[in-house]
Amino acid sequence: GRRFEKVIQILDGHNRDRTRLVPILQAVQEEYRYLPEEVMTLVATSLGISPAKVYGVATFYSHFALQPKGKYVIRVCDGTACHVKGSQDLVDALQGKLGLGGSRKTTADMMFTLETVSCLGACGLAPAMVVNEDVHGQVGPDQACEILEGIRQ
Ligand code: FES
Repeated sequence: GRRFEKVIQILDGHNRDRTRLVPILQAVQEEYRYLPEEVMTLVATSLGISPAKVYGVATFYSHFALQPKGKYVIRVCDGTACHVKGSQDLVDALQGKLGLGGSRKTTADMMFTLETVSCLGACGLAPAMVVNEDVHGQVGPDQACEILEGIRQ
């Protein structure tokens, strides 16, 4: 149907070449911000490979998301430098503020997704977090919550 027109375009743009599976999934994710299950099935059918194979590739690369993400993706660094400087306090504060924790990484209103990453390459700014593309350095728990407030307004 028309809903998947964009996926068909992506597939055609890659000549439906099964060796291009990874770039195809990348392009799909850019479009939807994650890989919806029905789209992975469509990709599999169009490339003549099994859905299990597509799913396997999608789960192998941490870059791919199988669940929809919030409008704002917050990544708190939990690499060594940031960990030592209290990144866990940051995570706890943000989880408390957003009502997240355990397997719940995205708020019900789809505004925020909270993730931890192993190093943002900004160790001099520890503890560091990124909101979408904006890097915030030397963030304390209170400041992190203020940043969220700022976004919500
Ligand atoms: Fe946090 Fe490198 S350890 S930015």
